[in-house]
Amino acid sequence: MPVTAAAPHTHWSPDFDALRRQDPELAGLVLAELERQSTGLQLIAAENFTSPAVLAALGSPLANKYAEGYPGARHHGGCELVDLAERAATGRAKALFGAEHANVQPHSGSAAVLAAYAALLRPGDKVLAMGLRHGGHLTHGSPANFSGRWFDFTGYGVRRDTGLIDYDEVRALARELRPRAIVCGSISYPRHIDYAAFREIADESGAFLIVDAAHPIGLVAGGAAPNPVPYADVVCATTHKVLRGPRGGMILCRGELAGRVDRAVFPFTQGGAQMHTVAAKAVAFGEAAAPAFTAYAHQVVANARALAAALAAEGLAVTTGGTDTHLITTDVSGLALEASTARGRLAAAGIVLDVCGLPHGTAHGLRLGTAAVTTQGMREPEMARIGALIGAVLRGAGQDGGLRGEVARLAGSFPLYAPYPAHI
Ligand SMILES: Cc1ncc(COP(=O)(O)O)c(C=O)c1O
Repeated sequence: MPVTAAAPHTHWSPDFDALRRQDPELAGLVLAELERQSTGLQLIAAENFTSPAVLAALGSPLANKYAEGYPGARHHGGCELVDLAERAATGRAKALFGAEHANVQPHSGSAAVLAAYAALLRPGDKVLAMGLRHGGHLTHGSPANFSGRWFDFTGYGVRRDTGLIDYDEVRALARELRPRAIVCGSISYPRHIDYAAFREIADESGAFLIVDAAHPIGLVAGGAAPNPVPYADVVCATTHKVLRGPRGGMILCRGELAGRVDRAVFPFTQGGAQMHTVAAKAVAFGEAAAPAFTAYAHQVVANARALAAALAAEGLAVTTGGTDTHLITTDVSGLALEASTARGRLAAAGIVLDVCGLPHGTAHGLRLGTAAVTTQGMREPEMARIGALIGAVLRGAGQDGGLRGEVARLAGSFPLYAPYPAHI
């Protein structure tokens, strides 16, 4: 769509100077956060640095538009152009993942899961999902979440000896419980999931298969992880992790479930779509379809493997002995440290990561991911250095702040938004 007329307001772009002039307090916070992101090592597995193009779509006048409903069937007028943006987003998502239907309106990953349950389940239905201690997400049956309150969840887990999903246990539980749905997907499982095995188990017990691919969906887009779409009834995902889009959710499904899924998103669980985010999702899907993203996704995995090896060399116990993905979990109890103490020490050195539950026992561990540092352009040599830095900090080195400077120098050699090298 060519832009012809000069816009009456041309100062809509996300321009720090405009923000600084009008609201120095908030501009200062934004700049300080940019500084924090740029001078530390961001190893939170669910985060990434989205591109300037995605940020431009997020900070665009599409944020002004109300658009309840779907393209061609809106409850508001003036939706002709945002309809095109949503059609671009759904078309690109379908092509990227080989899906018959895509809904790009969920405001978050949790909203996508809520809508998937609303599409397929009734309150009180039995659902089999990964136990929370073993890596299930809050939306997989936590009593603190709608899922645990409204559905009857049973958890499956990972094997004590290998840390891998116990498919025999999943099959046995499915036969016994005959759940209405089986959910697979995790916040911390570092290995590929055998979607064909889950499909077989779901078919045997007459259950729907819901894949919550919030974490690996970006690797799927880049061909670095198996695609759940051919196996699942419904795939839920986030767009902001390895996929590197705006914060948000998405649902992919077979054509025959399209109506149920769409009605479950709007009007059942959400109101108006956020069209600036929908447009930014379209931009991200476009970026993810480019060959450079395939290289990026494979590098994310290569970096995670290198980092896992470096952590193991520092004496940390890496769960499952390594990773197939962007994600690593590790037990720090061998260093006589609580995970929260370890996270605090690392944060003081500018290394930012999460604490996570570990299966079989009460200890917590650390969860790391390589999506963000790979976007910065770091590769295996930097992962080896990061592993050594983590080992040194956890053993008590640099508590006088000595390693903070080295972390800042390493991060600063791979600048985020100038001159934008890594994104396209
Ligand atoms: C497996 C899984 N499902 C759902 C979500 C929820 O996503 P959001 O935080 O966008 O609601 C996450 C977030 O990390 C996740 O890892």
